[in-house]
Amino acid sequence: MPQNQSDGRHVSRETELVFDPGMGSGTEVSGEATPWKDPQSWRAPEVSRETGSDQSGVGPDTPIARAARAAMSVRGNGDDLWPRPSECRVLSIANQKGGVGKTTTAVNLAASLAMHGNRVLVVDLDPQGNASTALGMERDENSRSIYHCLVEDAEMRQLALPVPDIPNLWCVPATIDLAGAEIELVSLVAREARLKRAFAAFDSSELDYILVDCPPSLGLLTVNAMVACAEVLIPIQCEYYALEGLGQLLRNVELVKSHLNPTLEISTIVLTMYDARTRLASQVADEVRQHFGDLVLNTLVPRSVRVSEAPSYGQSVMTYDPASTGAAAYLEAAREMAHRAKTGVGN
Ligand SMILES: Nc1ncnc2c1ncn2[C@@H]1O[C@H](COP(=O)(O)OP(=O)(O)OP(=O)(O)O)[C@@H](O)[C@H]1O
Ligand SMILES: [Mg+2]
Repeated sequence: MPQNQSDGRHVSRETELVFDPGMGSGTEVSGEATPWKDPQSWRAPEVSRETGSDQSGVGPDTPIARAARAAMSVRGNGDDLWPRPSECRVLSIANQKGGVGKTTTAVNLAASLAMHGNRVLVVDLDPQGNASTALGMERDENSRSIYHCLVEDAEMRQLALPVPDIPNLWCVPATIDLAGAEIELVSLVAREARLKRAFAAFDSSELDYILVDCPPSLGLLTVNAMVACAEVLIPIQCEYYALEGLGQLLRNVELVKSHLNPTLEISTIVLTMYDARTRLASQVADEVRQHFGDLVLNTLVPRSVRVSEAPSYGQSVMTYDPASTGAAAYLEAAREMAHRAKTGVGN
């Protein structure tokens, strides 16, 4: 992983930063002893689900989190804590079209929600492992990943790692093994429901969001995500071909819904890489809003260099450059999601 840009610190797998949200700061422990593996580390959050109020009075207190909060308050977004959903929301971030912003959306929504008092787990279900890289997960050929959960029945809880510098955020990484999983899954019993089974095997009651970053295909991995999740979030890139292939995606959601997961709903659409200088971008945005109405978040995520730079530093844009337009947009998008969960819009 690249050096942490803000303080030059290298967070290795042997010295994972373990967050203790109750204390508001991190402590370094050696790999095998990480408290993450102790069920107690997923303990009750400080933000009340009923009132959304902060009971500790202390937010995340790493240097980067402080910088992010400072930047946000400069921008007039002073509300530090957002409502938590009444129960854990489980969303797949899906679109079989490549490069539309699935991973960027998953990572930055997750970071924003976590920085505002929600407890979030990102599951990287893409063999490319982009979400894992963006969240600073170090991997090598011996690393365990979501592959071991899907194919070898490893426990999800054992695989989730705390994300450096963002309290309340964890990630189950992907490794390249996952590239073979589509084929290996074919011969397994209930191959479409492996992820659902893995989710069912752990208590998610202390989590607020599980975001599953899907690969750019409608294969078995994406089907597993849709069977395991209650909601689908679709990022749509504001460009000419954006709506091509969307029909196929919607048909697949319907197929999964009618055969495998009757409660599945498309709950959220996020317009990404919006370029305000082009008429085309606003035409695409209008067309998507006409088709999908309230499902589309009001916030448009602009095309922003800082958003595209952040992953190469193993960071979300929320920590890499919290004052950038991209970070502000993802912050607003996440705020909308958090408040919609409270009012039921889009659920
Ligand atoms: N708002 C943005 N501004 C500028 N660049 C962006 C923005 N959103 C995403 N990108 C860049 O576009 C590329 C594709 O984004 P991303 O990886 O999130 O898409 P994806 O749908 O997950 O791709 P894949 O289908 O390969 O998984 C990346 O290089 C990313 O950094
Ligand atoms: Mg991706």
